[in-house]
Amino acid sequence: MDKIIEVKNLIKKFKDFKAVDDVTFEVEKGDIFAFLGPNGAGKTTTIKMLTTLLKPTAGEILLDNINVIKHPENARKNFGIVFQDQSLDDELTALENMEFHAVLYGVGKNLREKRIEELLNYVELWDRRKSLVKTFSGGMKRRLEIARGLLHHPKILFLDEPTSGLDPQTRNYIWDYIAKLNKKEDITVFFTTHYIEEAEKYSKTIAIMDHGKIIAKESPQKLKEQTKTDSLEAAFLALTGNNIRDEDANGIDQLRNHRKMWRGH
Ligand SMILES: Nc1ncnc2c1ncn2[C@@H]1O[C@H](COP(=O)(O)OP(=O)(O)OP(=O)(O)O)[C@@H](O)[C@H]1O
Ligand SMILES: [Mg+2]
Repeated sequence: MDKIIEVKNLIKKFKDFKAVDDVTFEVEKGDIFAFLGPNGAGKTTTIKMLTTLLKPTAGEILLDNINVIKHPENARKNFGIVFQDQSLDDELTALENMEFHAVLYGVGKNLREKRIEELLNYVELWDRRKSLVKTFSGGMKRRLEIARGLLHHPKILFLDEPTSGLDPQTRNYIWDYIAKLNKKEDITVFFTTHYIEEAEKYSKTIAIMDHGKIIAKESPQKLKEQTKTDSLEAAFLALTGNNIRDEDANGIDQLRNHRKMWRGH
């Protein structure tokens, strides 16, 4: 099978802290690849390096055989990205957000108009194209971000928590759409989620990251077999443990201390 993503010995340090700690993995062309892990595992940091937004401390990344660190401009043409944090311009309309992105990626005027109409229809936002994005619901914004990520016909779509905070209807809708894209347009999908059942239902391969390292990479079925569990969530917990991650645990301690102080008054 052809590899479309190849990552070798990738490291990202923030001062002395290794957020991504010597990670090596590959993704096959046409895969729906779920990148799972507890809060703070290093998922977003990895995606940011794969998509040229963050410079690795060390390591190598190839996207469709293009060296991302040496040729970021070329690499960018190969992928679309939907960020964990909303990244639309609220003060522009849906159409303006799409046009702005098309210009940024050098999509020519004729192709641009056709493609924008096609994509906005696809995510059922064509009728709302002239509305300001600030009037959109969370689900509508997500759909617009996905349409925007596809404007320049990428080979890979990166989605960092594409469905967080959305209702089950919208999540299903978005997933059906992503699955269709994967099948019809042969787009490789690389996504993160904390909804483990989404990974179980839609992904072909799962990688689990914890404390900056990849601790497993298998099909959902194999992961369950290896951990002798009957759901992917149980497999995930068997591999990553039940403890809340340090950061969050500190947060809870702080909250407790605050409460104590407050009660003491
Ligand atoms: N710019 C930064 N400076 C310092 N530390 C950072 C920076 N960005 C991320 N980190 C740290 O790196 C670690 C990994 O963060 P990252 O955002 O990649 O996690 P994640 O797996 O995406 O988590 P989540 O599921 O909560 O989105 C965390 O401990 C985080 O605090
Ligand atoms: Mg993240």
